[in-house]
Amino acid sequence: MATQNAILKNALIFFLFILAILAETAFSQNCQDTSCPGLKECCNRWGYCGTKGDYCGFFCFSGPCFIKGKSYGYDYNVDAGPRGKIESVITPALFDSIMSKVQNNCSAKGFYTYEAFIKAFKSFGAYKGKVAKREIAAILAHFSYGSKNFCYKEEISSEKYCSKSKKYHCEPGKKYYGRGLLQSITWNEYYGAAGKHLGLPLLKDPDLVARSPEVAFKFAMWFWNRNVRPALYLGFGEITKRVDGRECSNNWRRDGANNKVKQYIEFCTMLGVTPDQGLDCF
Ligand SMILES: *[C@@H]1O[C@H](CO)[C@@H](O)[C@H](O)[C@H]1NC(C)=O
Repeated sequence: MATQNAILKNALIFFLFILAILAETAFSQNCQDTSCPGLKECCNRWGYCGTKGDYCGFFCFSGPCFIKGKSYGYDYNVDAGPRGKIESVITPALFDSIMSKVQNNCSAKGFYTYEAFIKAFKSFGAYKGKVAKREIAAILAHFSYGSKNFCYKEEISSEKYCSKSKKYHCEPGKKYYGRGLLQSITWNEYYGAAGKHLGLPLLKDPDLVARSPEVAFKFAMWFWNRNVRPALYLGFGEITKRVDGRECSNNWRRDGANNKVKQYIEFCTMLGVTPDQGLDCF
C-alpha cells in the first residue's frame, strides 16, 4: 500500500511537472517578437525577459547581453580590417551619392546632411580617431534599413510607447515611437536615457529627433554605442540582433534580415572592404 501511494505521488509530481513545462511554453512572453521594454532587460532564446545569466548570458537573444567569452573564432570581427578617419572614409561626394538615391517624395529628402553626420560622429569618443570601415558600413546598413533607405525621419505610428518607468516618466501627450535612423528605438526609457547622455530634452520633446538631423544621428549613434558596439567582434549577425532582434526570430521575417545583409555587403563594397563572415543572425 505504501509503495502504491509512493508511485501515485511520484506520478502526480511528474504530471504537475509536465503541466508546468507545457504552461511555460504556451504562455511564453515571446519577447523575440516584441523586444523587452526597458533598458535593463535581455530577451533569451525562449522568449523571456530578465536580467540574470539565464537571460543575458550565453542564451541571450537580444538586449544588453553579457557577450564576453562568446566568440566564434572565424573572421567575424566587424571592428577589424582597414581603418580611417570618418571624414576620409565617408567623403561629402560619397555621402551625397548615397543620399541622391532618396526619392523626391520622401519626407526625409534632404534632411540627413553630411555636416550633421560628421558632427554627430565626432561627438562620440569612439569615432574621434580612426574607425573601422566595416563598422561604418554596418552603421550605414542599419541606418538605411531603419529609415527605409533614408526616406523617413519618423515612424508612421500613433502608438505612445510609454511604459511605467520610474526613472523616465512620459511627458503628457508625447509619443515615443521610432524616429530618425534606427526606428526600432522606441519607448520612453530609450528617449530618457539618450537625452540624459546627450544633454538633450528628449523626454519632453521627442520630436527633436525628427527636427534636427544632428540629433537624429546622435540618437541612433547613442544606441549603437551603448547596445551594439560591444558586440562588433561577434559579427554582423549578432549586431543585427542587438539593433532589433525581431527580424532574427522568425523565418517569415528572414527577408528583413537578408536585406540588411545585402545592404551591408553593398556598403562594404562601396568602402572597399570585405564583409565579415558572421552575417547570419538566425
Ligand atoms: C514615391 O514614389 C514612388 C514612385 O512613384 C513610389 O513607389 C514610392 O512608394 C513613393 N514613396 C513615398 C514615400 O511616397
